[in-house]
Amino acid sequence: MLTILTPAATDSVASAAALLQGGQVVAIPTETVYGLAANTQDGVAVGRIFAAKGRPQDNPLIVHIAQMDMLPLVAVDIPPEAYKLGEAFWPGPLTLVLPRAPLVAQEVTCGLSTVAVRMPAHPVAREVIIQSGLPLAAPSANLSGSPSPTTAQHVLADMDGRIPLILDGGPCEVGVESTVLSLAGMPTVLRPGAITPEDIAAVLGKPVALANAVYHPPDEGEAPQSPGTKYRHYAPKADVWLLEGDMPAFTRFLHDLPDKTGVWALCHEGEGESLPVPSLAFGRRGDLPSQAAALFGALRRLDENGAQTVYALAPTKKGMGLAVYDRLLRAAAFKVKKL
Ligand code: TXA
Ligand code: MG
Repeated sequence: MLTILTPAATDSVASAAALLQGGQVVAIPTETVYGLAANTQDGVAVGRIFAAKGRPQDNPLIVHIAQMDMLPLVAVDIPPEAYKLGEAFWPGPLTLVLPRAPLVAQEVTCGLSTVAVRMPAHPVAREVIIQSGLPLAAPSANLSGSPSPTTAQHVLADMDGRIPLILDGGPCEVGVESTVLSLAGMPTVLRPGAITPEDIAAVLGKPVALANAVYHPPDEGEAPQSPGTKYRHYAPKADVWLLEGDMPAFTRFLHDLPDKTGVWALCHEGEGESLPVPSLAFGRRGDLPSQAAALFGALRRLDENGAQTVYALAPTKKGMGLAVYDRLLRAAAFKVKKL
């Protein structure tokens, strides 16, 4: 299949809408990461997403809507908290897990009785949804297991020959995927993102829990609340380790490595010069949005540079730092060293 990468503009958005109505898969920009979109109500079209990504069949997709009146098309028995949170954070990087409406294809939810829904803020994503008139099922537009794409070029690197069209809307502003929140029982963050548990608790006026799976790999045979968290996600080809400690300890650790062949450091801007191994930066120290925006691109560049072992300086787990920490922890397949 020929894959066309084109800037998002009036005619290319119209082509995207037509392809989606015809049951095809199109990559679109969102404010978090690029998504691989298909018609939520068409099981065959949704099957094409799984095929293009090589995604495990038991990992459900997020449904994207453009307006509040689309919500009842995809979810039922919507609790008042969902409307409260929608009013506060939509359009934006918050996904709500709600009871699934019958129109949503089984393939989207992998047979679950719930559906994950969000309203993206990116104007191109919104325009494609509105013009196609369809709620769009869309996971991140990477090959399953590789870092999520934050530019159209990242999408092309993974999806060339697999999908007909990629709309280029520039680099993603947020850079990590949306916060996934379950509203069944106590509100629980299943995947941290730019909207923090504290932000959500402030709107709901009650505490918000953090799913066990955020910090821990699942035990053998355990069913996680969010199926996606059980896979080794966001993984570069290199062997990644997360190092918890300050910059002097990080530097000392790298100095003391007996064999530095193929070793790279992942740190913040301006911090690489004093290190005894080559390094890449993800964002600025103390500037969490800049770290989130740069992380996945940095993981891809490590592979391009042939890094074999990567030591990453662990970010803070506070606020939005938790989302960055979570993605690095998964890239490291949960390997953490305390310095
Ligand atoms: O920011 C985002 O959310 C991006 C953009 C494209 O919108 N999408 C994204 O999709 O990250 P994906 O498929 O890479 O991640 C979806 C996550 C997975 O961890 C999945 O297991 C979880 O949402 N999920 C989907 N449906 C669910 C459900 N019914 N219950 C619990 N978790 C669900
Ligand atoms: Mg993904």
